[in-house]
This record gives sequence, structure tokens and C-alpha cells, in this order.
Amino acid sequence: MARVAVVTGGTRGIGEAISVALKNAGIKVAANYCGNDDRARAFSEKTGIPVFKWDVSDFDQCASGIAAVTAQLGPVDILVNNAGITRDATMRKMARKGWDEVLDTNLGGCFNMAKAVWDGMLERGFGRVVNIGSINGQAGQYGQVNYAAAKSGIHGFTKALAQEGAAKGVTVNAIAPGYIDTDMVAAVPPNVLEKIVARIPVGRLGHASEIARGVLFLVADDAGFITGSTLSINGGQHMY
Ligand code: CAA
Repeated sequence: MARVAVVTGGTRGIGEAISVALKNAGIKVAANYCGNDDRARAFSEKTGIPVFKWDVSDFDQCASGIAAVTAQLGPVDILVNNAGITRDATMRKMARKGWDEVLDTNLGGCFNMAKAVWDGMLERGFGRVVNIGSINGQAGQYGQVNYAAAKSGIHGFTKALAQEGAAKGVTVNAIAPGYIDTDMVAAVPPNVLEKIVARIPVGRLGHASEIARGVLFLVADDAGFITGSTLSINGGQHMY
């Protein structure tokens, strides 16, 4: 029987590429989104992938969202925690709100979503959780104390949860993307982005499909011995 996957933030950017790659691999995919109804509708019409709207920073919405996915597609075998936001500002200018929003969505969302699928995965003896971290959670980034803290937290969360799932057939891994050609990176001031790209040995931004390739590798049925790992996909920008 086809596996069932949920991809958070799965209708745009890296999440869109992940949703499509999983579908092309024969997996039944539910793409979660939170804000942009028009983009979600267009994505669903183009790909045939059903979309589900909820806010990953809200614990109860995650539980009811997973219940809705389960009712429509079946129990969730694969969770890709991809949803993430930025509220970049230097420490001097960052408000508490910008800290809370990023921590609640990027890191809190991983907890809320994993909590909603975890017991079922353990009971069925199979699960794949992939958390999308970031090069900036590994190396830090000027103007991102919130984002770097959240993404760094994702890497710790991954290693801790992996230990709890290991004996039960549930793997938990992270991918740490570098700078990928998405809307999020397009919002970086051009003069700053130019300097960042100049430091990428491969000489260009990454493509969302290059992150999706890593996700496919980690969620495969025969990837059961890979757990607690972080796969860096960053064009050689940070070798860690
Ligand atoms: N290193 C050192 N100094 C830097 C710097 C850097 N990387 N970036 C900016 N500065 C300096 C500037 O030169 C400037 O110095 P002076 O005052 O001496 O001229 C000072 O910091 C203020 O810079 P700005 O004028 O840019 O200040 P700002 O308040 O308008 O903006 C900022 C600051 C929000 C950090 C802005 O520079 C910015 O958006 N930077 C990009 C941050 C970034 O890379 N975000 C990644 C988003 S993509 C992502 O997160 C995906 C992923 O996982 C990889």
C-alpha cells in the first residue's frame, strides 16, 4: 500500500518541491499550508495534491489537521516538517514578537506536528520524520538570532527524538539546506545576497528540487538505519 506523507508548508518553495517529489515516488501526499490560499489552490490544481490549511504554531490545529488528513488519506507514515518563516532584524531592532513568531512556527511547529503523528508511528512500527533545518542553524547568520536559534533547535530536537523512535522503526533526520532560490531567499537584500552567493563554492543558489532529493532518500522504506543524522545540502558553503 502507498505510504502517506504530510509536508508542512508544502505548497510553496522547498515544500512544494518536496510534495511533488514524494507524489512522483508513488506516495500519497497531503500538503499543509497556512496563509496563501491562492497559491495553495493553484498548486493543488497543477499537481493534484490535496491541500490542508492549518497553522503549525497552533498545537490544537495540528492535531485536528492530522485527523483530517488521516480521514482522507489514511494514517500518516511520513512527516516532513518544512514550514518556516523569517523575521530578520539585528538584535538591536528585533522585537519580542519577531522572536516568538519564528520560534513558535519553525521550532514549535516541529513539536506540534510530531506530537500529532508520533504515537501512531510507534504503534504501527514504521515512521519517517524529516525536519528541515538550515545552514544558518549550524553556522549562525547576521540578523537572524531568532531563525538561527529555531533552526539550531531543530537539529537538537531531531537527535533527541531519533533516540526515542530508533527501536520502533521510526527514523528522525534533518536536512540543513543552504541558500535555495525560493521567495524567502529572494527577500534578502540584493547586496547582502550577492556576498552570500560569492561564498558558495558551487557558485550558485541551490534549487528546491535538490532538497527534495535528500528528503526522498531519507524517507525510503530501506533507509531504516539512517536516523539522527543531518544532511547538509548547501553547495559546499558550510562543511560541518
Ligand atoms: N555581516 C556583517 N555585517 C553586516 C552583515 C553581515 N552579514 N549584514 C549587514 N551588516 C551590516 C551592514 O554592513 C550595516 O553596517 P553599517 O551600519 O556599518 O553600514 C549594518 O549591518 C546594518 O545593515 P543593514 O543596513 O542591512 O541593516 P538593516 O537593519 O536594514 O538590515 C538585516 C539588517 C535584516 C540583517 C539585513 O541585512 C538582512 O536582511 N540580511 C540578510 C539576512 C539573511 O541572510 N537572511 C537569510 C534569509 S534566507 C533563510 O534564512 C533561508 C535559509 O535557511 C538559508
